Amino acid sequence: MRRLLQLKEFGVAYEGGGDNSALALEAVDLEIRAGEKLALVGESGSGKTTLALALASLLPSHARRFGTMAWEASEPRPGGDIGFVFQDPGGSLNPVRPVGDTIAEVVRIHRHQDRRTAMRMTLTLLDQVRLPDPERIARAYPHQLSGGQRQRVALAAALAGDPKILVADEPTSALDTVVQAAVIELIQSLTTTAGMTLIFISHDIALVSEFADRIAVFRSGRLVEVGTPDEIIFAPGQAYTRHLIEAHRAVGF
Ligand SMILES: Nc1ncnc2c1ncn2[C@@H]1O[C@H](COP(=O)(O)OP(=O)(O)OP(=O)(O)O)[C@@H](O)[C@H]1O
Ligand SMILES: [Mg+2]
Repeated sequence: MRRLLQLKEFGVAYEGGGDNSALALEAVDLEIRAGEKLALVGESGSGKTTLALALASLLPSHARRFGTMAWEASEPRPGGDIGFVFQDPGGSLNPVRPVGDTIAEVVRIHRHQDRRTAMRMTLTLLDQVRLPDPERIARAYPHQLSGGQRQRVALAAALAGDPKILVADEPTSALDTVVQAAVIELIQSLTTTAGMTLIFISHDIALVSEFADRIAVFRSGRLVEVGTPDEIIFAPGQAYTRHLIEAHRAVGF
């Protein structure tokens, strides 16, 4: 697989708010390959979202970056080359606008379409994420949709710029297991069909081992290890990874 990006000694610190020395991410060496499905796993606060935001150039202004992040081609534009499904299901949707308008705006800006074409493409996107009655959904405000519907709409918004890379940050953690499985299946099939690179964040190592090409395990801002699901699940090199797997075995994995 072609290399897309190389991180070397990469780190992020959030400044202000007390402890200045705390690094959210530290000394990360990681290669990301074009078209792969890479899962980032690890406990809460381990730096997964921070890394994803850094990749998408979406870090807040009080974040400072260290080390190198070298893209093989030009740095991807957020919303266009790189789509982002935020951890908070409402995060990518404007609460006071019909969801169709939010998606259509991304289509207009990043696919350079006129208003009418953008709305038509929006309905196609809503259909692609398997929402029934796209016209009705497009007119709805975020609060009028169920959690699962909102997550699919957020996915449609992330895909609206026709990205090469999709970052999905815990896209299903707020959903029940049946809807969760359906949304993951959807993300998988859409990214596979389009040859998109998928960066999928989860605290659930069992869940991602079902579909990821590689799993990167994070703890306290550091990359603990990275490997294929077989390597990580059956021959974890690090005690922490074994601990994450054991935690799942305890609940029937
Ligand atoms: N905007 C921010 N300002 C200051 N500190 C932050 C900010 N976002 C995250 N942090 C801190 O950076 C560290 C890593 O947070 P991050 O959100 O990347 O973790 P995470 O692995 O995504 O956790 P979770 O699984 O809970 O989403 C944490 O210590 C967190 O408190
Ligand atoms: Mg997070």
